[in-house]
Amino acid sequence: MNNKYDNLYKASIANPEKFWDEAAKDVKWFSPYKKVLDNSNPPFYRWFPEGKINTCFNAIDRHVEEGNGSRLAIIYDSPVSSKKISFSYSEVKKIVSTFAGALKDFGIKKNDRIIIYMPMIPEAVFAMLACARIGAVHSVVFGGFAANELAARINDSEAKLIISASCGFEPGRIIQYKPLLDEAIRLATLKPKKCVIFQRENNSVELGVNDISWQEFIKNAKEIDCEHMDANDPAYILYTSGTTGTPKGIVRDIGGHIVALKWSMKNIYNINPGDIWWSASDIGWVVGHSYIVYGPLFHGCTTILYEGKPVGTPDAGSFWRIISEYKVKSLFTAPTAFRAIKKEDPEGKFFKKYDLSKFEILFLAGERADPDTIKWAENLLKKPVIDHWWQTETGWAISANCAGLGLFKTKYGSAGKAVPGYNIQILKPDATQAKPSEMGDVVVKLPLPPGTFPTLWKADKRYKENYMDPYQGYYKTYDAGHIDEDGYVWIMSRTDDIINVAGHRLSTGSMEEILSENASVAECAVLGIADNLKGQIPLGLIVLKSGVTKKPEDISKECIQMIRDKIGPVAAFKNVVVVKRLPKTRSGKILRGTVGKIADQVPYKMPATIDDPTILDEIKSSLIESGIIKN
Ligand code: COA
Ligand code: AMP
Repeated sequence: MNNKYDNLYKASIANPEKFWDEAAKDVKWFSPYKKVLDNSNPPFYRWFPEGKINTCFNAIDRHVEEGNGSRLAIIYDSPVSSKKISFSYSEVKKIVSTFAGALKDFGIKKNDRIIIYMPMIPEAVFAMLACARIGAVHSVVFGGFAANELAARINDSEAKLIISASCGFEPGRIIQYKPLLDEAIRLATLKPKKCVIFQRENNSVELGVNDISWQEFIKNAKEIDCEHMDANDPAYILYTSGTTGTPKGIVRDIGGHIVALKWSMKNIYNINPGDIWWSASDIGWVVGHSYIVYGPLFHGCTTILYEGKPVGTPDAGSFWRIISEYKVKSLFTAPTAFRAIKKEDPEGKFFKKYDLSKFEILFLAGERADPDTIKWAENLLKKPVIDHWWQTETGWAISANCAGLGLFKTKYGSAGKAVPGYNIQILKPDATQAKPSEMGDVVVKLPLPPGTFPTLWKADKRYKENYMDPYQGYYKTYDAGHIDEDGYVWIMSRTDDIINVAGHRLSTGSMEEILSENASVAECAVLGIADNLKGQIPLGLIVLKSGVTKKPEDISKECIQMIRDKIGPVAAFKNVVVVKRLPKTRSGKILRGTVGKIADQVPYKMPATIDDPTILDEIKSSLIESGIIKN
């Protein structure tokens, strides 16, 4: 029993309007909202309608106005480019308001869309904040996505401008952004007017007629003030994999986003203004949006921007170095990062070299944190390790062990209890409530709290049909799990075609679409299989067309390259097995789950509806032959 958490949770569910009205007092409004929640058009709920507010003002200007301009806002540490730079809140204000001035001079107006396709450099954060300053809607695209994915996002968002950089650094290779950008623009049906390219030191590129360097773009620009935006205007769009191959544009609105993230910093993470906070993710993902950029800045913290990996840049001690060098209070990352460190340095030899006395809590999310990794990290750090569950759609944690409300006992494998604001329930397919510890669909009773997604970009219908119609009055998370008798939430698997590869969310459906474009492939299936480092990796099964004379291994190589070219290296698609037939039910549904169990070598039940059970033995032999499983 934890009275503080229990009381606050109950209050948030009993009277959400009172609860969030109180939280909203902690952020800066230009003019007040007319009501806390507009619930006149379910499932399209609107928080803080008609309030006037600005994201950049709450992230930067307010701290300068409150006399904290000299406090560090961003510490950039880049082992891959051998650079370290810090920026105070006043310095960020100057750079951002000048870049915002340049955007305005270029003709960018409120609600125009801008794509940001950049590595983890401070200019990426400045670009996000400058968009927010003038009310432009940014859509950040992760650098590991290929031109094709970028083109899809340019088209859907109808972006007027792209902000990018000359290159990114991955261990052992330089990612040239220009060829990717040029190809994406060639593929896009709606062409942006210009690309602003930040030329990285010693790595500048030749620009085309439609490009301008960042440095040139801001040459004559003047600093400008923040636009007064409506609380329900869009702050950003972040595309994520959906149940079909088409990415979904998750929309975040401005007012609720500021209120929820500011509230979460203290209550979930126990972080105070002025604390040093590190989220080791990428700004291309929702974790990066919420907890590298916005949350810590709304709260007046110092945020670390790390351009590197947990291992190999240069070694498995990088995370400990950052924590000790900057006196980081808490770290948020994906379990896969800790699995990578554990693999390279199981005994924690690097850990012993650093002083981590200021460190308090490790937060993990993005995928299920396996108990082994949590226990290993707890043993090493001798500090709490907290698994918490969330999604791009919600933008912040749905369940957690809220450190600011007093920690409760860890149950390994559970993602904590419902966070205040989220009424989580488990429903069975007939929409009845599951009993404690009974598996079902994890849903959240509407309205969702502020800071979640009010809709999908230009797709109200898809929002409603996909997420809100399956269970009337609830948001369907597409995660399956259960809640035990103590209120702990257990997230076990996805119920759609999403797999989670090193904390990156990918759709197997979109991989199948690409594989079926190969002229030699008659049929295919992609599924996630267990991986010690990345949690899951994709496995492709292909059936060749009759009469194909190419060598199967060459076709496999082509398939791997196609996914890399069309989705990007982030898909980590490296395993393709040629099989004679795919196992199906009598109605033609491919039995991906059963194949996954065979590949993971876990017990499975013979599906009652299987068309021909002998295929499963064939598949097993093919997986053994290709080295995916041992005999
Ligand atoms: N731009 C271009 N390429 C990128 C990229 C980027 N921003 N980020 C990753 N890639 C490439 C990698 O170079 C790799 O390419 P390769 O197939 O040629 O080796 C591929 O995409 C897969 O990358 P990644 O998933 O990072 O795997 P990895 O094997 O390079 O590293 C980890 C494994 C665990 C170290 C890495 O996944 C990691 O640091 N994870 C941290 C957790 C995290 O950031 N999660 C995000 C959600 S919270
Ligand atoms: P993303 O939208 O990329 O953040 O991915 C969200 C999905 O990742 C969720 O729907 C879950 O399937 C999975 N996920 C995230 N965090 C956790 C967690 N702590 N435990 C289990 N699954 C998680």
